[in-house]
Amino acid sequence: MEKVKVGVVGCGGICKATYMNNMVNKFEIIDVVACADQIEKRAKWMEEHYPGVKAMSVEEMMNDPEIQVIVNLTYPESHVAISKMAFEHGKSVYCEKMMAPTFEDAKMLHDLAIEKGCMYTTAPDTFLGAWEQSARWYLDNGIIGKPVTVHAQVTSHYNPESPFFDTLPKHFFFPLHYGGGFPFDLGGYYLHEMINLFGSVKRVTGFGGNLFPERKYENPKHPKYGEKFIVDTPTTLIAALEFENGVLGTFHISSDTSMSQAFEVTGSDGVLKLGDPNMFNDSLYVTRIGANPPIVRLAPGEQPKDVMAMMAGDDDDVQQLVEFSLPQTVQLPLLHGFSDSLRGVGLADMCYAIKNGRRPRLHSDIGLHAIEIIHGIQESCKTGKIYEMTTKCERPAALRPSAVSATCQEAVLDD
Ligand SMILES: NC(=O)c1ccc[n+]([C@@H]2O[C@H](COP(=O)([O-])OP(=O)(O)OC[C@H]3O[C@@H](n4cnc5c(N)ncnc54)[C@H](O)[C@@H]3O)[C@@H](O)[C@H]2O)c1
Repeated sequence: MEKVKVGVVGCGGICKATYMNNMVNKFEIIDVVACADQIEKRAKWMEEHYPGVKAMSVEEMMNDPEIQVIVNLTYPESHVAISKMAFEHGKSVYCEKMMAPTFEDAKMLHDLAIEKGCMYTTAPDTFLGAWEQSARWYLDNGIIGKPVTVHAQVTSHYNPESPFFDTLPKHFFFPLHYGGGFPFDLGGYYLHEMINLFGSVKRVTGFGGNLFPERKYENPKHPKYGEKFIVDTPTTLIAALEFENGVLGTFHISSDTSMSQAFEVTGSDGVLKLGDPNMFNDSLYVTRIGANPPIVRLAPGEQPKDVMAMMAGDDDDVQQLVEFSLPQTVQLPLLHGFSDSLRGVGLADMCYAIKNGRRPRLHSDIGLHAIEIIHGIQESCKTGKIYEMTTKCERPAALRPSAVSATCQEAVLDD
């Protein structure tokens, strides 16, 4: 197979934890030939541990004619500069979430990619994962009838001043900075999965923002313990979303409260409880009448009772009828591949899009739409008015179910 040559900018936490290994070892179509980081030793580490991956400067990478795709794994504040440089050098870009800290910059990059004729895709790619694609298949096939509402909630003490996060004071901790806070960081997963399930959003409205901008270092081991500092990013948002297809949603995201997580769709005939969209593998549950009907054993020669006969019968029969008409909850089997931690599957999909001349599933239309949703919610928080979305995105093409989910899963991307 002809592979697509890629260069990676940003060899930090997520590159080391999952991306590089997945890109090098888990997808046939991807050929990582170069890596770069402003902290040179991080790129060198990759070169030493992954044969074939050469450490170089960002400029060298951009000027290398062999490299077709730049994988932008820098932190959000650097996303704009690196993606812009790549487009100006005629390279296509796969960028980690969010595509830019502001809607304005995201729009500029989106337009620049079109102007330069470059493909542009943006993470998160978890919506290509096993539970996310299975949920879509079940919904599209009517498991809960007509979807009416979706509720997305994720809250956590993800505060920058928490002892968990500020033990490395020199580390550039992006959730402290605009474009890296909780709605952008974890919110992106929920927004992309909702777009995967229902398509574009028409209008948004919201409350919240940065409820406590002035904070204190609370970790006694921190050199700045007790000192105040300012957090410059929204930390709690509660929003309502109206999708183009009529589904109504809530989006509740906070790093100022204790941990909670909920993600579910209600429909005319039932409820589908979704998983954690930050994960490729999770459980799906449906609650509906007939999901798990009680088994009725008939004695030899006995005929099943019909409903009218049961209604006319004695109390036991009525009890049986009630059992039949109560909703039951069952766990649904996952129908798709990509059930292990496969960040980078979106890049593989992009490489097949290049090979086969099709639209990539992580098209930047989606990333742009997602950042506009966060932007619109914040505008609504400020103005007290409903925000009408100005962008639309195409619902990404579904992946086909794969009978052998653990093997040959890459083949479903080659479409
Ligand atoms: N950490 C996670 O669990 C996680 C999970 C999924 C996605 N992401 C996303 O991945 C991206 C990176 O996250 P991370 O946790 O790896 O961050 P990080 O801070 O650990 O790593 C980012 C790296 O990019 C480098 N960098 C920044 N600007 C640069 C520039 N201009 N030129 C060259 N190198 C530059 C930094 O030196 C650093 O090594 C973010 O967009 C984040 O949202 C992170």
